[in-house]
Amino acid sequence: MKAYRAAILRFDPAREPAQSAIYEEDGLLVIGPDASGTQRVQALGSYQELRQRFPDVLTEHLPGRIIAPGFVDLHIHFPQTNVIASPADGLLPWLENHTYPEESRFSEPVYGAESATFFIAELLRNGVTTALAFASSHRASVNALFAQAQQQRLRLITGLCLMDRHAPAAALNSASADGRFDATEQSLIDSEALIQQWHGCGRLGYAITPRFAPSCSDAQLRGAGELAERYGDVWIQSHVAENREEIEWARALFPASASYLATYGDFGLLRERAIYAHCLHFDEQDRALMRASGAAAAVCPSSNLFLGSGYFDYAAADRAGFRYGLASDVGGGTSFSPFHTMLAAYYVGREGRGKQALSLSPQHLWWQHTAGAAQALGLAGTVGNLVPGCEADFVVLNPQATPLLARRTTCANSLDELLFALIVLGDDRVVERTVISQALLTISAN
Ligand code: GUN
Ligand code: ZN
Repeated sequence: MKAYRAAILRFDPAREPAQSAIYEEDGLLVIGPDASGTQRVQALGSYQELRQRFPDVLTEHLPGRIIAPGFVDLHIHFPQTNVIASPADGLLPWLENHTYPEESRFSEPVYGAESATFFIAELLRNGVTTALAFASSHRASVNALFAQAQQQRLRLITGLCLMDRHAPAAALNSASADGRFDATEQSLIDSEALIQQWHGCGRLGYAITPRFAPSCSDAQLRGAGELAERYGDVWIQSHVAENREEIEWARALFPASASYLATYGDFGLLRERAIYAHCLHFDEQDRALMRASGAAAAVCPSSNLFLGSGYFDYAAADRAGFRYGLASDVGGGTSFSPFHTMLAAYYVGREGRGKQALSLSPQHLWWQHTAGAAQALGLAGTVGNLVPGCEADFVVLNPQATPLLARRTTCANSLDELLFALIVLGDDRVVERTVISQALLTISAN
């Protein structure tokens, strides 16, 4: 067992997200292994109250620091690290001119392995300890990402990007080398083999990953849905209702479905553990479908602002009652930093609905990137929070990391003011350390 003494932030699962933060000024976090060796939170509370219970536990004192749950990134693209900051007139030209050419390079295993090393390190440096990530359409990219995550003990969920049409050949799935299976068949065979190889292996999980309906044939979506039915505890990830041209295209390709979102439902791809990125241009029927199916939205505000896609409607999502969490969506998104993403979400929350515009509270923003995102993944109580039983993934934050932050946080008069100062002024410099569950492996950040 080991204990950490510092200020500690966590979330009360029984409270409304906007008011759910609990902050212990002088707290103690005690972690220790369960029967399988996984490091979990054993106890958490005020230092004065807890220290008598754990008199012999080695305690690291971190004065002036804040311990908070490791961040959960609900949607990010591993092969788009080099695509960040590529401007375009909108989603479809951005995919065509920047994204597909870069993703094509991931057929090369050496390129994928080098990129995976950088990608996982960058997530950890930014305090992200759980991520749901797209790989490319090449099996080597999935293996490279899983292998690197396993080595660094990140909780990672990824899968082979399913795309058998409407992109350059090098970016698409390919047929088997011996010609026995076409690209569609081979992509489904590969997905199943990857599920069997990686899903549930330590902290790794598999996500069936149709890129978006326009890049998948009917046969590929049908096959993906069949896999989703056969492997009920694997995740599903895709994109929906991000951009007006994309939506028109999807509607034209699948005219029999009631909406773009409904297309996924028609192929068996809407259920618990299905995470759909964006969910911007929904109507009330779509929102009801999200709620009824148990699917969740990955809200990607920096990407939506960067690509000019639109604004996630928080009020409508809350009225409908479907789950959501925050995501960087690198490389449409502009940063790996959860602080940047939370700030972008704040801007998005203020925008778009005239008099109804809603200010998201700092606690709600932070919850969306930790406990809320974990709940969307069906991993509440496992990651994204610091309550007994959670895996011991956490960040050590320095609220004095820059002169301006030090000045501003020193005069914060409430928890919301403190959290908001970190959200507005913070970035990777705030993350002093990222501690990952299991084997007490500690990764020094900067
Ligand atoms: N829709 C289909 N593919 C993508 C992608 O890579 N990024 C974003 N933002 N939207 C997509
Ligand atoms: Zn995306």
